Amino acid sequence: MDGDGSGLTVAGVVMEELRNLLEARNRHISKALSIAHGKPLHIVRGEMQYLHASDGTKYLDLVNNVSHVGHCNPHVVEAGQKQMAILNTNSRYVYGGITDYLGRLSSTLPESLTVGFLVNSGSEANELAVRLARSFTGNHDMAVIEGAYHGHTGMLIDLSPYKFRGPGGCGSPEAWVHVLPIPDTYRRPAIDYSGEAMEKMKQAGPLAGLLIESMLSCAGQVSLPPGYFSDVASAVRKQGGLLIADEVQVGFGRVGTHMWAFQESDVVPDIVVMGKPIGNGHPMAAVFTTPEIASSFGDMEFFSTFGGNPVSCAIGMAVMDVIEKEDLISHAHTLGERFKTGLNSLMQEHELIGDVRGRGLFLGVEMVKDRSTLEPAALEASEIVDKMRDQGVLLSTDGPLHNVIKIKPPIVLNHDDVDRTLSELDNCLSVMSD
Ligand SMILES: Cc1ncc(COP(=O)(O)O)c(C=O)c1O
Repeated sequence: MDGDGSGLTVAGVVMEELRNLLEARNRHISKALSIAHGKPLHIVRGEMQYLHASDGTKYLDLVNNVSHVGHCNPHVVEAGQKQMAILNTNSRYVYGGITDYLGRLSSTLPESLTVGFLVNSGSEANELAVRLARSFTGNHDMAVIEGAYHGHTGMLIDLSPYKFRGPGGCGSPEAWVHVLPIPDTYRRPAIDYSGEAMEKMKQAGPLAGLLIESMLSCAGQVSLPPGYFSDVASAVRKQGGLLIADEVQVGFGRVGTHMWAFQESDVVPDIVVMGKPIGNGHPMAAVFTTPEIASSFGDMEFFSTFGGNPVSCAIGMAVMDVIEKEDLISHAHTLGERFKTGLNSLMQEHELIGDVRGRGLFLGVEMVKDRSTLEPAALEASEIVDKMRDQGVLLSTDGPLHNVIKIKPPIVLNHDDVDRTLSELDNCLSVMSD
């Protein structure tokens, strides 16, 4: 039957349901939480790299780096369901799941980073990392990169230029926050990026740490220039501080060559923060560090009620299983290269594309109105994202100038998904230049 018997067509029922949900959102959810993708998408089911909407549309999800091994990945779902029926308690009890899991994560890291703290979100993990750095060094000030986002707690808003300089923010950093310029080789070529960062940290005086993503996400999908990570590591250590690598966006093999994006350099961070993909959508995060730094709270206890519970550990373990068994790190590399090659040929044909960058399945396409002035094409970037959404492909924009299209899909993407995206993008760009 066409409709639900109320006289409405199927499309009418779908619209009515969405209207009701939006009304309920307006009543119960703060306006501070916006809706993604420029228009409300009523998503009813996830299936690996796809999201199904109530109107029957199947979207290819190219932005959800949380559902790393695929929305509702059956192996992960089963692991969570099984453990939930056996035991779920907290980390003050002894159970194999937590130590097996921590041992497995630790085995992917440099050998000095043996101690892990399990928590519930990237914000909680970064907050803990900064507390550890302060306790260990006895210093208070922190350095961060321009344009970065590290979390939503009070301290992390202060450490996130993306927020304090953005809408509703206070505009400038607190006195204890030192902001280093983005080492952006496209917009600021031929600059001594290390030199300017080192000078800024020297001027800052004693530091507790530098909180830095191993590849910059909100700052515009920027890879760190060669040598930069090791130079800033030495500089922060000279100021008495620790290097905290935020791998919340880029970790777990997304970059296609290593498990952790910092491993492209020879630097061993003092603290590594993991989040988003760690639980494939289950709320969990982790902080790894050395035994010495981990002991720096002294007599003060650390406890997170839900962090490291047996269900989370089983889920985290299942995510690791899938990454390893399905060889997803090299898969991310192969598909990332295919994407980049295709995007680079689109750049030859479409003037609007100023730069294509990234590693593995963490890519950025910077849109400009003019390739010589680099005038940002923010409106055009969001128009492309909207047009792509209407073709069933979900993308998003980012960067301080809002003109970088970001690609960071579940890494179970396939070749056809990449080719389809490239061909849809070509169509969109051709229509826009007509
Ligand atoms: C780089 C980075 N660090 C930390 C966070 C905070 O993570 P969560 O939202 O899980 O608190 C985010 C979230 O977007 C992030 O992108």
